[in-house]
Amino acid sequence: MRIKHILTTVTVMTGMAMSAETPVYLDPNAPVEARVEDALSRMTLEEKVGLCHAQSKFTSKGVERLGIPEVRMSDGPHGVRAEINWNDWGYAGWTSDSITAFPALTALAATWNPEMSALYGKCVGEEARYRDKNVLLGPGVNIYRTPLNGRNFEYMGEDPYLAGEMAVPYIQELQKNGVAACVKHFALNDQEKWRGSVNVDVSDRALYEIYLPAFKKAVQEGGSWSIMGAYNKVWDQHCCHNERLLQDILRGEWGFDGAVITDWGGAHDTKEAALNGLDIEMGSYTNGLTSESEFGYDDYFLADPYLDMLKSGEVPMSTVDDKARNILRLIFRTSMNTSKPFGSKCTPEHYAAAKAIGDESIVLLKNTGILPLDGNKYNSILVVGENATRCLTEGGGSSELKVKDYVSPLSALHALYGDKVKYAKGYVSGRSLYEKEDVIPQEELDKLRSEAVAMAKDADVVIYVGGLNKNAWQDCESTDRREYSLPFGQNELIEELIKANPNIVIANITGNAYEMPWIEKVPAVLHLSYLGTMGGASLADVVAGKVNPSGKLPYSIPVKLEDCGANSFGVESYPGVETENGPRQKYMEDILVGYRWHDTKKIPALFPFGHGISYTTFAYGKPVLSAKQMSEGEAITVTVPVTNKGAVGGKEIVQLYIGDEKASVLRPVKELKHFDKISLAPGESKDVAFTITPDDLKFFDDKKHEWVAEPGKFKVYIGSSSADIRAVDSFNYKYSLK
Ligand code: BGC
Repeated sequence: MRIKHILTTVTVMTGMAMSAETPVYLDPNAPVEARVEDALSRMTLEEKVGLCHAQSKFTSKGVERLGIPEVRMSDGPHGVRAEINWNDWGYAGWTSDSITAFPALTALAATWNPEMSALYGKCVGEEARYRDKNVLLGPGVNIYRTPLNGRNFEYMGEDPYLAGEMAVPYIQELQKNGVAACVKHFALNDQEKWRGSVNVDVSDRALYEIYLPAFKKAVQEGGSWSIMGAYNKVWDQHCCHNERLLQDILRGEWGFDGAVITDWGGAHDTKEAALNGLDIEMGSYTNGLTSESEFGYDDYFLADPYLDMLKSGEVPMSTVDDKARNILRLIFRTSMNTSKPFGSKCTPEHYAAAKAIGDESIVLLKNTGILPLDGNKYNSILVVGENATRCLTEGGGSSELKVKDYVSPLSALHALYGDKVKYAKGYVSGRSLYEKEDVIPQEELDKLRSEAVAMAKDADVVIYVGGLNKNAWQDCESTDRREYSLPFGQNELIEELIKANPNIVIANITGNAYEMPWIEKVPAVLHLSYLGTMGGASLADVVAGKVNPSGKLPYSIPVKLEDCGANSFGVESYPGVETENGPRQKYMEDILVGYRWHDTKKIPALFPFGHGISYTTFAYGKPVLSAKQMSEGEAITVTVPVTNKGAVGGKEIVQLYIGDEKASVLRPVKELKHFDKISLAPGESKDVAFTITPDDLKFFDDKKHEWVAEPGKFKVYIGSSSADIRAVDSFNYKYSLK
């Protein structure tokens, strides 16, 4: 039996003609649905249930008797995580699992370049394929609601349109490798504090307009083959078996045919999991993430307890058939797809891709002319800050990566400017793990600070590379940040450095916004996220002007925390309040997330969504609308000429926002509907064209449960950021009552 099976598999793998006995499910040329039904018809009840839960930390079962392989998963989303032990959270200590670390997703979003997203998906997919993974746990498209969320660096910013546009090419290119994306965390997992239990109260408008669109695009346009349920609750039910999220919306409204996988330990109830569309339960062996228990894989909610319920008739057999179908579909699309490529890892192309994405992601927030730094002008360049040398692919939780190579900012700056570069650490943060925080003695901190300040006095220019560090209570899974300001005494250090040498460039590495009380006193600020393997090289090239910065903020940077909508309402809104039924929170800013809040409430951000300057300047001409009137089924084209006015080539991200002048419901002043990143040589002009359709005018009518565009005047804003609007025009929308 076994030998016969092996022979059949060999036949399939070598693409030779199928023998008459080859079962349909093993025939790679048969349609996937036919393979699914054939495999299902051969399986016992126990085998079907076996598919629905983990058999190790990162694999779920296949069907050994039928030669259907297990599903091998890996984090995601910034590279393929090092191998984890079969049965506990320790790293397995392999020597063949070091990889390319790609920039964090928040950096990808800051490129505003879907081509970069496609390149990212392709390369990370090739690495996942090489490492023989079937599912890569990412990308994450939760919305950046508050700068305190420890996991914002794994997501794509505050705007649902931007996040969706950037997620789609990543998923499509990743999956060409026969590796499934697993879009996460569905849904409303917008903070880490109490992530396993907080019950989110959100309006239907905010849900449909802000929190769901990126997931919907990932599923419908990206075609994601799997999705991960979030830890938290919505409407008093955990997301991993939430009837409305999974059955009504995901499968019902969006037609998702892939597999729903829990977040690790996200299942809590067999009956709900059975009935509400969960397919694979992972991670329940641990109570959360860190400790072990006697609970074994057969005890999972979707293991023996489910089998018992099926046998007793408490839940219908159709539930397990549906789950098995979804999982088999995932398997045929991935591990049993015999035409997938072989993949590759740590290639020059992957390093070049990581570098290119990093280059385009760096946001120049402010520059009075000090940048780019002309090496000939300076004899001594002092680099200060722990992040200039700290390997920032470590930490952060499940997205942590074991890199083969890491170019630090200090080494890259040294390579560019040679011995002119000196280094002072300035501060030290230590390692803060969840249970244990390093306490750095005050004398050590004082010593580091005075050394850096003394060296700054003697330097011609200072480059400060600090920020957050992906340890607990920074940008890190499981915990939120404790403060909006920079940690580890960095603000005081920066103030002292400015006094010692006002010729200072701030280049902070962070996946989040932070307070900048010294902003008026510094000539330049660069904002970058965790850029992985090639991050230092990207930073150095931007500092030196070899790369003209072209990233724009995918989230607003408020002056102070209370200027952020979610944080302005107090604890009820963020992080929630503890009740006898667990913590609860209400999204009180509702649809006014990020720039929608700043605009509508007239609270200017320190640096607005979409902001980012260049070493050149761009002039916008007058936009031309193809019509001033639009009816249902029609479209208007907006064309705007953009010219590079400077002496260097550069890239500009042209943004189109739409505002509804008068509506029957509250609408934000404007919302991003289109953007385009263009490259212009010095003096060059290009026409940027956008097509507006009635869909761009709609809000979600929660009473009718449908998207509605009301007749009237709509404003078109063309901007270089959400606050730097270069032209405004308008048109009239009317219903044609056909
Ligand atoms: C995280 C997921 C991750 C999973 C597996 C969970 O704690 O929330 O994003 O994919 O662990 O590591």
